Amino acid sequence: MSDLQTLRTNTLAAVQAASTLESLDEVRVSALGKKGAITALMKTMGKMEPEARKAFGQEANLVKDEIASALDQRKIELEEAALDEQLAREIVDVTQPARPTAKGSIHPISQVMDEAIAIFGEMGFAVAEGPEIETDKYCFDDLNIPTDHPARQMQDTFYMHGHSGDAGSLVLRTHTSPVQVRTMLIQEPPIRIICPGRTFRSDYDATHTPMFHQIEGLVIDETAHMGHLKGVLMDFLAAYFEVDEVKIQLRPSYFPFTEPSAEVDIGYEVVNGELKIGQGDKWMEILGCGMVNSRVLENCGIDSSKYQGFAFGMGVERLSMLKYGMPDLRPYFDSDVRWLRHYAFDPLLIPSMVRGLHA
Ligand code: DAH
Repeated sequence: MSDLQTLRTNTLAAVQAASTLESLDEVRVSALGKKGAITALMKTMGKMEPEARKAFGQEANLVKDEIASALDQRKIELEEAALDEQLAREIVDVTQPARPTAKGSIHPISQVMDEAIAIFGEMGFAVAEGPEIETDKYCFDDLNIPTDHPARQMQDTFYMHGHSGDAGSLVLRTHTSPVQVRTMLIQEPPIRIICPGRTFRSDYDATHTPMFHQIEGLVIDETAHMGHLKGVLMDFLAAYFEVDEVKIQLRPSYFPFTEPSAEVDIGYEVVNGELKIGQGDKWMEILGCGMVNSRVLENCGIDSSKYQGFAFGMGVERLSMLKYGMPDLRPYFDSDVRWLRHYAFDPLLIPSMVRGLHA
């Protein structure tokens, strides 16, 4: 056999034997590369007679083409095999059961806010929100809280850096009442909203944390009166504490943004060391409320000769401690998982008046 034919046979066998793309490429380089075997044989043509050179040249080109197409073919085979192998290796068995993942939980504060939203939602209240960084105008002025009111003093209010209480100062809102202002400024009555949210005051002991939560309520229309306010609160408190009725009393009080104003006490008793809310001969304060002061209505561009309404505000921490029995406020915000495991709620059970408020 001629050198050319031997080379052809050996190279085609090597192409077939190559089992990876890398080894196939080595075969290509050693046969067809610049320093490869075919190139080396071609170089011997110079010394041949013209006839022999012509015949050799033609044969060499055929061999070269044959090897090139064998290489291409083998390359396709190896690529397909590599893909098949990869597909087999990366198979996903969709019938396998899902691995259980750690389930998060709902903090009692979120839970109580969601319960309140469910209850007030049923009564036709919408949820309104506002920013936690608020202007002193919305937080105080428009709510008829004058500059010299104690609530504005530095020991209560957190002022933003560089703001010291001058007009136009930014504060961390001390209550959710500014959301009343924001709502009245953009919405024509009738208005029926609650505003759950975070609030801030410079205060810290067993019953106060510098960050806490409130739910504000506001109803404005042409006829809303104290009787409606009392009815709304009684219905809310009975639904929230999950009793048929909660005895309440409205005690005259003072808030700059309401006139008249009242504090609401709920009846309770302690039976065998357990707190029972709703009946009994003891009273505890639970929230503040009143008829929206006509000055506040006018500050918000609402005609107080045509419209009137009521407002109320309550602390979410207190509501949740009373219902779910936490004795101390401070662990609420310690992020202690043991406390959370004990007191937190199932995220899949969303409070609803139909399905129930909680597990
Ligand atoms: N804003 C009051 C506070 O932070 C709570 C409050 C009382 C809100 C009476 C009201 C209200 O809307 O009518 O203590």
